[in-house]
Formats: sequence, C-alpha cells, structure tokens
Amino acid sequence: MRDVLPEEARRWRLVEDRLRDCLLASAYEEIHLPLLEATELFSRGVGEATDIVEKEMYSLLDRDGDSMTLRPEGTAGCVRAMLQRGLLYNQTQRVFYAGDMFRYERPQKGRYRQFYQLGAETFGFPGPDIEAELIYLGAQFWEALGIAEHVRLEINNLGTVTERQAFKDALVAYLTPHSDVLDVDSQRRLQTNPLRILDSKDAATQDLLHDAPELTQFLGPESTEHFDGLRATLDALEVPYTVNARLVRGLDYYTHTVFEWITDSLGAQGTVCAGGRYNGLVELLGGKATPGAGFALGLERVLLLHEAVSQEDVNLQISTAADVYVCVLDQQFHPWCLDLARKLRAALPGIRIRTHAGAGKLKNQLRRADQCGVRIALMIGADEMSAGTVTVKYLRGEAEQQTLTLEQAANALRGYFKIGP
Ligand code: HAM
Repeated sequence: MRDVLPEEARRWRLVEDRLRDCLLASAYEEIHLPLLEATELFSRGVGEATDIVEKEMYSLLDRDGDSMTLRPEGTAGCVRAMLQRGLLYNQTQRVFYAGDMFRYERPQKGRYRQFYQLGAETFGFPGPDIEAELIYLGAQFWEALGIAEHVRLEINNLGTVTERQAFKDALVAYLTPHSDVLDVDSQRRLQTNPLRILDSKDAATQDLLHDAPELTQFLGPESTEHFDGLRATLDALEVPYTVNARLVRGLDYYTHTVFEWITDSLGAQGTVCAGGRYNGLVELLGGKATPGAGFALGLERVLLLHEAVSQEDVNLQISTAADVYVCVLDQQFHPWCLDLARKLRAALPGIRIRTHAGAGKLKNQLRRADQCGVRIALMIGADEMSAGTVTVKYLRGEAEQQTLTLEQAANALRGYFKIGP
C-alpha cells in the first residue's frame, strides 16, 4: 500500500479530472459505493475459483460474526447497489465510480495491494453498440491524456455461459491426458478454472495449448454476430484493435465481449484498463436477467504511463503549492489577513492564496513564501490597516512594490495571473 505525496497527487488530480470530464461529457453519472461488502457478494459475483476470491481478498469477521471483505473490484458492488435501490427496473443506466480497491497480491511496479480504479458500468443494453461506446470512451481517455500512441486494444469474444461451458469441457478433455506437462498452477486450474490456463506464461503449457480446441469453434451465430457488430463499429471509428483468442480475464462474470487496453511501456503490469460484458451477473446476484457491460482503469498505472510518455509537463502547470502569500506583519492583524485572503479568493477564482501562520519576522515569512513557489506576497501593516489598503510585492522582481486598494490589488493580480474579467 502506497502513500501518495503532493508531487504525485498533483499529477493524479490532473489525470483523474480529465478522465472524469470525459465520463461526465458522455453523461455517465457518478455513484459512491461502500468499501466493505459481504464476502459472499464477491465469492458469488467474481467467482469462487478466481485468484481474487481464492487468495487475494482482505476479509474480516465483524462484531456479529459476519464475514465482510474490502472490495477487490467495483462491478459486483455496483450491481448489488443498483439492485437494492431498484435502479434496474425497466430502465437503462450509465454510471461511474472512483475509489480504492484491495487485493492481497505480490506488490511490484504498477501492482499494489491498495489501488485506485475509475470504473464505468452500464445496464439494460443488450447490443454491441454499448461495448463500442465503452471502448470508444477509453480511446477518448488516452487522447485527452496525450498517451494514445502508447496504448493498444485487445478484444475477444467469450460467447454465452453455455457456449463457454462447452469450450471448457472440450479444453479439459484435451488437457487432462497431458496434465503432467502443465505447470503447477495450470494443473490446479484444470479442476477449478480451466480457462485461466490459456493465460499461463509457462512455455510447455503454451506448447500444449497450441493444438487445443479454440473458443471460436464453440460460438453460435448470435454470439458471432454480436461480436461482428462491435468490430464493424470499431472499424468505422478507426479504432485499431487485435482479436486475442487467449484473452479470458480473471473474473468469472464475463460473457460475449471482453477487452483490455494494454501498454508496452510499463513492463509486466501493462493492462491499464479492462472490462467487458457481464450478462449473467445481475441474475446471479438475485435480480431479473439484465444485460450489463463496463470497464475499470487502474489509475496508478495510467499515472505511471502518463509520467513515462506524456510530453506534458505537469509541474509547469502546477509546480507550486500556492500563488499568493499573505504576510502577517503583526499578530493582531491576523483576522484581517484571513478575511482579505477570503475576499481575494472570491474575486480571483483558481488562484491559490495562502495566509501565513506561525508568527515570525517579515524576512522569514517572505522566505517561506518563496519556498512554496509563490510569486506575489501581500503585506498589511498598521498604515495599510488604517488606510484599508494592501502592499503588493512581486517576489520575482517583475515590478516595483505597490500599495493599492483591495479592488486595485485584485485587478493587479487578475492581470498578473492572466485571468479573465
Ligand atoms: P480487473 O482487470 O481486475 O477488472 O481490473 C481493472 C484494472 O484495474 C486493471 O486493468 C488494472 O489497470 C487495475 N488493477 C487491477 N489490479 C491492480 C493492482 N493490484 N494494482 C494496480 N492496479 C490494478 C475489474 O476489476 C473489473 N471490475 C472491470 C470491469 C468493470 N469489468 C466490467 N466492469
């Protein structure tokens, strides 16, 4: 679990705001969901045999002896909330959430035990148009962040639950006689979650998979047509993608389309955003069968990528802790200084004004101001107090110090920071 210090937090804010702007501009509505849910929600929703449920959950017994889990992902909780609040009844929904998720994984660059997802979920849309919309939203994220060239898209068609089950059976039948060749993890998965064997990095396992049955052989015409519909839209939008028949994802709820946005610039943890359709999940969690589709992006990974490849200098935009510093020449003026700062903030939106605290000589106060990158200091002494004025000092020496009325000072700052009337 990581600490995010001011420098990274500035990039975080910039990146998250842009992503949120994309979601809001597409009329997705923000929701907030609990961090703690009943453990059963994830064992049922995400799947008993997944890595997440088998070995990565932070679970605890609460005082009633009920097993609760820190959410490892957002989709199951989102479906629970929509169902409990009756928001899936005869209506469609497009929502998004942002927040921390918890998985007991082996930490490394881009993989943490507490990480932050921005997720979008949609309900009530059976056609491939919504998958195209979700994927295109991703494409707009990367454009907005200036990292589009460094992210590629992989998609796959998992078909319906029944089609996938037929494929699973065929895969198990093919692999079982050769199970001694499989790596240890895959041997275990042969019993629990055979599709994940396709993900194995082991060379001998991959060799064996070479002649294994392919999922596409088990897809019926409706599934194929659905996927072709998505591909046609992506083609029309000129969104490049590759179809990766081995892309199965680590959560059990997917049906039909799955997709991942991947970067090759971050090493092993290259999936920055992933999602797909989950038509069975609402029913599995106790609702009426309702189609669903969504994705979640890992903000830490997007930040790492932005830092690695973006031409944009975040520190040029926001390199300082404050823009203006109000010096307190005498402690008895302090209330006046706080109030002056409040008035100026109201007159100068976007300008960050810090009031000195902690007494001390003017020289030391100006040094403090300089340390936090401030360009303008305001000083109020006895003369200014009685005249209702303020002295403006340009710390970079761009102009002589001036004593102005509050209104004149606000205008001077407006001009200096080039903000509109
Ligand atoms: P997921 O693939 O498990 O899917 O996670 C989505 C993204 O979260 C990953 O692509 C990655 O960027 C980020 N992520 C996952 N684990 C970690 C970690 N340990 N450290 C840092 N980042 C991580 C889901 O969670 C699904 N709920 C996505 C979804 C939403 N599908 C449909 N709707």
